[in-house]
Amino acid sequence: MDLSNRTVIVVGGGSGIGLGIARAALARGARIVLGGRSREKLDRALEALEAGERGRSVAVDITQEADVVRLFESVPEVDHIAVTAATLAYQPIREFDLEAARRAVRSKLLGALLIAKHGGARLRPGGSITFTTGVATDRPLPRGSMVGAVNGAIDCFIRGAAIELAPIRVNALSPGWVDTELWDVIGADKASRFSGMAQRLPVGRIGTPDDLGHAAIFLMTNGFTTGTVLHVDGGHRFV
Ligand SMILES: NC(=O)c1ccc[n+]([C@@H]2O[C@H](COP(=O)([O-])OP(=O)(O)OC[C@H]3O[C@@H](n4cnc5c(N)ncnc54)[C@H](OP(=O)(O)O)[C@@H]3O)[C@@H](O)[C@H]2O)c1
Repeated sequence: MDLSNRTVIVVGGGSGIGLGIARAALARGARIVLGGRSREKLDRALEALEAGERGRSVAVDITQEADVVRLFESVPEVDHIAVTAATLAYQPIREFDLEAARRAVRSKLLGALLIAKHGGARLRPGGSITFTTGVATDRPLPRGSMVGAVNGAIDCFIRGAAIELAPIRVNALSPGWVDTELWDVIGADKASRFSGMAQRLPVGRIGTPDDLGHAAIFLMTNGFTTGTVLHVDGGHRFV
């Protein structure tokens, strides 16, 4: 699981699971490039990682093709790409705001297409792309129809991409509930919902960004794994 002298781009690396992936890649010797929309968030993340000369960032909105092109132009030699970026919405189907649904599709699914389209050609031999799906595909929550839909689309997208971009390997991580900023929207309910879920899960706890970082390194470095969804969910699919 060594990444010395490798360059890893993490789109979504400014927070949460992406930050966990960046931390894991740094710990294994990689140079990292964080991508995300908020320059401030990226600066904070680089500082927290203490990445020094092995870390830099590029402001990129994954829904904008020109941004994605610019990202890869600014990082000419890439070994691995991980993508956690998404702007998803939980809403009841009967009241779903179409613009919020479009944002979900544009960021998670079409964003993945843009990364594969422009990043695939840039990767050095042995390279890989890791996208992010999620447990909502298998265990939908009320109001989560579009979250499950875009995650499920990623499950399918990586299979086609793994065939078409070969020998570049293309996989996806499927997180269960992971303690990140994504959950801040539920405010004070977060602690009680997390402890309820932790009691149900076979592993007895909620996931951490580092759990997902560890799994992402496996997908980057295992040369025989492609077209695979790696479930890192504490057994959530079975409870
Ligand atoms: N946390 C969980 O429990 C959980 C469970 C299942 C699946 N997931 C999936 O895991 C992924 C990461 O989630 P997380 O928990 O790490 O959330 P997070 O902390 O909110 O991270 C998402 C990152 O993506 C960036 N981003 C969002 N939209 C973007 C865009 N259009 N272009 C570029 N960057 C963008 C955000 O930064 P900016 O806002 O600065 O762009 C942010 O740093 C998501 O795809 C989510 O669906 C998470």
